[in-house]
Amino acid sequence: MAGLPYIVGNWKMHGTRAMLGEVRAMDRAAQRFPKVQVAIAPPATLIYRAREAVELIGIGGQDCHAKETGAFTGDISATMLRDAGADFTIVGHSERRTIHAETDADVKAKAEAAFAAGLAVILCVGETESQRDAGNAESVVGAQLDGSCPSTEGVVEKLSIAYEPVWAIGTGRVPSIDDVAAMHASIRAKLVAIYGSAGADVRILYGGSVKADNASELLAVPEVGGALVGGASLTSESFLAIVGAAASRGEA
Ligand code: PGA
Repeated sequence: MAGLPYIVGNWKMHGTRAMLGEVRAMDRAAQRFPKVQVAIAPPATLIYRAREAVELIGIGGQDCHAKETGAFTGDISATMLRDAGADFTIVGHSERRTIHAETDADVKAKAEAAFAAGLAVILCVGETESQRDAGNAESVVGAQLDGSCPSTEGVVEKLSIAYEPVWAIGTGRVPSIDDVAAMHASIRAKLVAIYGSAGADVRILYGGSVKADNASELLAVPEVGGALVGGASLTSESFLAIVGAAASRGEA
């Protein structure tokens, strides 16, 4: 698996200009961690200002529309995110899939639109608790990947997958390390089935209640190439503790 560990903060619907100081602090601290790729996805209203405030870390969107322009009140296109200064976008987060009823086909179209606009993509997948209890976690996630992975050629190196068990998001619960390892291995096999040898280089992040005290253990799992962090990314202090854990990966 290629690349630096990738630690991405997803601010969800949190953040006004008052929080830009946190972004600046993250960016300043990122200098101390050259072996970690760091990024934040603030609400769309802050993308431009966040981009102006940083030098090192990536800035991204949390979602995009599949069309470039049009009569879609309230929506934001990938081209607009790029224009505002984003370098990537998240697509297919479980909160979008659930609250906004996004299908795998919707997520695929969004990912392809993002690539067309020149953005990198973090595509989220993950099972619900009842799907896991029924023993279907890997088949559910495999089907999500089959349905939502972009078919755009030549951009696989700009794709990351975030495995986020729905029941672990914002709950303080995380799967066992064995379950994370098994799922990430299964996702890797699926990516190779979809993309051929290029699928071996797609980064696979873990997300769901990642905190400073569990980050080292999660990031040590084979095939875990980074983390998508919600609640713990809202302050520079808690986020940088996770970045620090990523920096010391493999040095223990
Ligand atoms: P959490 O959120 O870290 O607050 O669990 C993760 C996510 O939804 O990306």
